[in-house]
Amino acid sequence: MDNESKIVWNPYTKGYFDNPYPHLKQCREENPVHKGVHNEFIFFKYEDVSKILRSNDFYVSELSSYLQTKEPYIFKNTNTCPYLSKGTQKWPMYLNGDEHKNLRAVMGKSFKEFELNQVIKESLTILNDRYKNSITIDLVDYCSYFIFLVTEKLFGIKDFESFENIKKYSNMLARSQDLFIPKQIYEEINSWFLWGKNIFHDSKYKENIRFFANKLNLEYTDEDIYSIMSISVMAAFETSKDNLTMALFEILRDQKLINYVLHNDTKELNLLIEELFRFSSPLQYTVRVNNEVIEYNNIVIPAKSKLYLCLASANRDPENFTAPDKVIPNRTPNEHLAFGGGNHFCLGAQISRQEMRYCLKPMVDFLKRFRIDDSVPTKWARQIFMRTTNSLSIKLK
Ligand code: HEM
Repeated sequence: MDNESKIVWNPYTKGYFDNPYPHLKQCREENPVHKGVHNEFIFFKYEDVSKILRSNDFYVSELSSYLQTKEPYIFKNTNTCPYLSKGTQKWPMYLNGDEHKNLRAVMGKSFKEFELNQVIKESLTILNDRYKNSITIDLVDYCSYFIFLVTEKLFGIKDFESFENIKKYSNMLARSQDLFIPKQIYEEINSWFLWGKNIFHDSKYKENIRFFANKLNLEYTDEDIYSIMSISVMAAFETSKDNLTMALFEILRDQKLINYVLHNDTKELNLLIEELFRFSSPLQYTVRVNNEVIEYNNIVIPAKSKLYLCLASANRDPENFTAPDKVIPNRTPNEHLAFGGGNHFCLGAQISRQEMRYCLKPMVDFLKRFRIDDSVPTKWARQIFMRTTNSLSIKLK
């Protein structure tokens, strides 16, 4: 491979955080599998990403043990209690083998016990009441507040007034998985992990986790349970509010999409919802590790390499999606990878779909009086793995 004469993936390319897709397109077209500057191998094409996700020859990298190796450096000369590796020890997306399989079963069964429809209905009433007299709205706040209302009921978060704190907690935890995180940010993430230890009630969800774990003879400690609670909130909150924000952003700037939502029913709405997952890809990358040396498109990849799978690029691959940079509301088929694939396929995919099914029409009906405020630039977070909007202003028409 001749990396010197070809484009090399660099998320710090100018304009990347505002719009990563031109850079991803160039990588996909000119150098679809290559070695990055930190010895990682990045995959951009749908076919490759999908094949690796679905293969049993690859493993997920272990976040908790990685953070454990970093803790002595991060907390050197501080009095802080290192908690990063403990906090992440039961995050299923970073576990392999039986430990992963068992935890996935426990969490999956506990998710099935949710009374989601009722929770969503109550949350929508509170949400629209809060914003009913607003002239301008920050769409990120609007979506975050809704997802917060749903999340705090599902997972039993103690303090109803803790919206801003939960938003920050979820975002900081999400950043523990991101790339190129400076020491100071790790320290901040650590203190949010410690802060979060007090926020959960003895909820139905927690009870169910213990119940299904007992049935499988799994002995989860209190620290394990907290780790499961933290990933549940982070996974449910972060991607869902990013997805909802980006979905509403696309809809509100296109009258045809507004009409589509308002005048169509379940089947057509479901197609649009899938299309918006594809288009936004809130989780833009995931990582796998190869146990053996492999050769891929004439590139030799040493054993134990980190393989970055760019879900965002795969979901815009023109070989799999016609006009991939357009939202086509009734796109079929739509085999997108926004929820991953294979053994680690998103455990919350059905929850996200259901959230969107129940909330999209009433939200668009409420927000149709508003338009994107072009005088206020949209602020995108400088995050690589998750595509996150920090603020997005809309105002009355
Ligand atoms: C639009 C919203 C969402 C998106 C785009 C999304 C995306 C993803 C992706 C791509 C993965 C696979 C990661 C990998 O293969 O390495 C994943 C895993 C996971 N997601 Fe989601 N997710 C969303 C919502 C949710 C929700 C609402 C929950 C919980 C209620 C959730 C819980 C999880 C869990 C527990 C895993 C780990 C599964 C495993 O490793 O076995 N997600 N998600």
